[in-house]
Amino acid sequence: MITIRGLRKAYGDHAVLDGLDLDVAQGEVVALLGPNGAGKTTTVRILSTLLAPDEGTVTVAGHDVVREPARVRAAISLTGQFAAVDSLLTGEENLHLMARLAHLSRAERRTRPAALLELFDLTDAARRPVKTYSGGMRRRLDLAVSLLSRPQVLVLDEPTTGLDPRSRNALWAVIEDAVAAGTTVLLTTQYLEEADRLADRVAVVDHGRVIASGTADELKRQVGAAQVELTTPTGVERVETDGSVPDVRRILADVERRGLVVERWQVRTPTLDDVFLTLTGQPADAVPDAAPTRTLQETR
Ligand SMILES: Nc1ncnc2c1ncn2[C@@H]1O[C@H](COP(=O)(O)OP(=O)(O)O)[C@@H](O)[C@H]1O
Ligand SMILES: [Mg+2]
Repeated sequence: MITIRGLRKAYGDHAVLDGLDLDVAQGEVVALLGPNGAGKTTTVRILSTLLAPDEGTVTVAGHDVVREPARVRAAISLTGQFAAVDSLLTGEENLHLMARLAHLSRAERRTRPAALLELFDLTDAARRPVKTYSGGMRRRLDLAVSLLSRPQVLVLDEPTTGLDPRSRNALWAVIEDAVAAGTTVLLTTQYLEEADRLADRVAVVDHGRVIASGTADELKRQVGAAQVELTTPTGVERVETDGSVPDVRRILADVERRGLVVERWQVRTPTLDDVFLTLTGQPADAVPDAAPTRTLQETR
C-alpha cells in the first residue's frame, strides 16, 4: 500500500532524508520510530504530497506521489503533527464541514461527528469556537477530523504527543477499529511503548534512513536476552535468563544457596529504548515537541 525507495531530501547541504526505504502492506500498521529530527515528518509530508522529494520514488495505493498527487490524496488521510482545524468554527462545525468535504454518506454525516466528539471527550465543548480550545483539545479535534472518513491509508504524525492518557487510549481504540475495517496505518512516534502497542512492524529511523526494522519482539531480541535483576545492599546483579519459569526458579534457588540478601528482584526484558541504544549508541531522545508554532526543529 505504501512503497518508498531511495528517498532523499536535503535543505541546503543538510541531508534530512538519506536514502530511506519502506514498505507497508495493505492492512498493516507500521511505526516509524525515531528521535526528534530523524526525518519522520519530512517522510510523512512527502508521502502525503505536501512536499516534493529530491530523489527516490514513493507510491501510495499504487499511485506515484509526484505524478498522481490527486489520486494519492484520495487514498490518504493525514493527521499532521500540529493541529489544522478552523479556529473560528466550533468543533462540531469543523466536523460537519469535513464530513461533507469527505463525501460521507448522509447516515454517517449524522452519526459520526457526534460519536467522535464523544470519544475524544469534546461533547461539552462541541458548540464553542475552536479558538477557545486548549492545545490538547485542538489536537483531539484534529484527530477526530482525520478519522471521520475511512481512508485506505491513515497517516498519523506523532498522534499522541501531548495527549492525556484517556485521550491516548481513545485514539488507540479508534486506530485499532480502523485497522479492523481494513485501513493501512503508518504512524510516527517517539514513544517506544506506542510502537510496541500498535504496530505490526517498527522501522527505526535515524538521520534520514531506516537503521533497523522488524516486529517489536524481533528488535528486542537483537538487543539480547532478558535478565533477572537482583538488588542487593551492595548493588545490582544481573543474570541472563530465557524468561521461563524453570530458569527463573533455578536462578532464585541459586541466590538462596549463596545466601545473598535480595531487597528487590525483577525479570527485565529489553525495551525499545534499549534497542535504540544498541543500534545507534545513543538513547532515543524522547522529548516531545510541544510548541505548535515551531516548524523548524534542531537535530539533537
Ligand atoms: N523546511 C525546512 N528547512 C530546513 N530544515 C528543515 C525543514 N524541515 C525540516 N528540516 C530539518 O530536517 C530534519 C528532520 O526534520 P523532521 O522530518 O521534522 O524530523 P522528525 O519529524 O523526525 O522530528 C530536522 O533537522 C529539521 O530541522
Ligand atoms: Mg516530526
